[in-house]
Amino acid sequence: MHNPATRRAWQALTTHAEELRGAHLRELFAGDKQRFARFSLRDGDLLLDFSKQRITQRTLPLLLELARAAEVETWRERMFSGEPINTTERRAALHVALRQRGASPDLVGGSEVMADVKRVLERMREFVTRVHDGEETGYSGKPVRAVVNLGIGGSTLGPETAHAALAPFRREDLRVFFVANVDSDDLSECLADLDPQTTLFIVASKSFTTQETMANARAARDWIIAAAGSESAVAKHFVALSTNREAVVEFGIDPGRMFEFWDWVGGRFSLWSAIGLSVALAVGMQNFDELLDGAHAMDVHFHAAPLSTNLPVVLALLGIWNSNFLGAPTYAAIPYSHRLRFLPAFLQQLEMESNGKSVTRDGQPVDATTAPVVWGEPGTNAQHSFFQLLHQGGRLIPVDFIGVVNGERPGGRQRLLLANLVAQSAALMRGQDTEEAERACRAAGFSDAEAARLAPHRTYPGNQPSNTLLLNRLTPCTLGKLLALYEHKTFVQGIVWGINSFDQWGVELGKQLAGQILDDETALEDASSKGLLAQVRAWRDSG
Ligand code: F6P
Repeated sequence: MHNPATRRAWQALTTHAEELRGAHLRELFAGDKQRFARFSLRDGDLLLDFSKQRITQRTLPLLLELARAAEVETWRERMFSGEPINTTERRAALHVALRQRGASPDLVGGSEVMADVKRVLERMREFVTRVHDGEETGYSGKPVRAVVNLGIGGSTLGPETAHAALAPFRREDLRVFFVANVDSDDLSECLADLDPQTTLFIVASKSFTTQETMANARAARDWIIAAAGSESAVAKHFVALSTNREAVVEFGIDPGRMFEFWDWVGGRFSLWSAIGLSVALAVGMQNFDELLDGAHAMDVHFHAAPLSTNLPVVLALLGIWNSNFLGAPTYAAIPYSHRLRFLPAFLQQLEMESNGKSVTRDGQPVDATTAPVVWGEPGTNAQHSFFQLLHQGGRLIPVDFIGVVNGERPGGRQRLLLANLVAQSAALMRGQDTEEAERACRAAGFSDAEAARLAPHRTYPGNQPSNTLLLNRLTPCTLGKLLALYEHKTFVQGIVWGINSFDQWGVELGKQLAGQILDDETALEDASSKGLLAQVRAWRDSG
């Protein structure tokens, strides 16, 4: 198997990046009036403008050559047909089956997988209806009014992102909360406002062994038992979302109140499975179906569209261009939408847990850097904190701007948001040279001397690349499309880098060491761990 940098296309891209080194986006725009038309793609109500990337007409064809050399199309087929492409765990990565609508002739073992998927979806539908109809009651006979999802990583990030994004679609008679942190303050703060008689806990854990989630689940169980005065109350107040039936039963949850999913669903790709139950409860099953419809529409596009007009493929290749050829070690995701405020956190797990790897699928060191550091905050908040560094810090930091054109609520401030989004991406792209800065100072009434003194401080180098993703509206359907777009982007990047995007061995060592420390606080030998834990003991004993 090929390491990415040994490919001919990679060498050609390296040379091409060298040729482009002196080019400025401002000049690229000045030299090509068709740049937007040339470098933007639309799929229904989703538009990707990548004209503000540091690319020319030669760049995309070279990147596409790289994708073809890495056999992206073959691997795409392998994923859709359910081959065990997660080779270290010998599993398929079939999250696309979770949102497959109708028959699915192209899935290996398709009928079996799809029967399971449909069965669990139907069970979710029945349960959601029961809760909404007030038939799910707590120990005192009162209907459920609050739902707390106890989960971490993929068992909370997707649902919490969707729950926030779909706020206008939520029911008013049911509140949904998310508790992830093992710090008991997270759960305590959540429970402070809740009535145990009307609270339902969803224990969301693929493995059902995750330390943080199980600690929170045990504390929640104690809270219910203390309030009800009987252990039998647990049965009415808990449901489980998991692949691990035994552990669910051992915890004390009846298998009849377990919504299963399967080992071929990766944690960070699991929103579409039973893990989405909290979202379905919040927005109703019809909206949850529409979320799946949207993701499916993106699957169909990804599966069928030629690479050159394929949104996830193009997005993936632009990311590779920025990080591997232009040398950007990070990228910022900036949604200009309060409802998308958790998107950066979702993308962090998706991209960094999937592709933060250093060996190829066959265990050789990768000869290129892999996933960039993903970070971000919603706009315009971000403009008032770290945008200074994006504009003048001198580092190459690509940005994905995400905007929503039509709001769902009257009095929305979309105009203000979008004016800022477009202004920031334009400012980052073109910058302002010293001469322009001096002119602006003089126009603002400064003397020539003062203008000259201030100009260097008011100069912006520009040439900062960005994508803009524009959604017509943010609905269950477009949200599904957006999240699936990034999922497939992540997969394509993993294929080009030659790595397995679907395992996460990197998280294991820290878990093991934490277990050792919990058993014996002197277990670790290094001086720092010893010193820190000695201080912990000293303060704990005196505190
Ligand atoms: O530790 C990482 C991880 O395994 C993620 O991949 C996963 O999303 C998260 O923990 C939660 O795992 P689980 O759903 O099994 O509790």
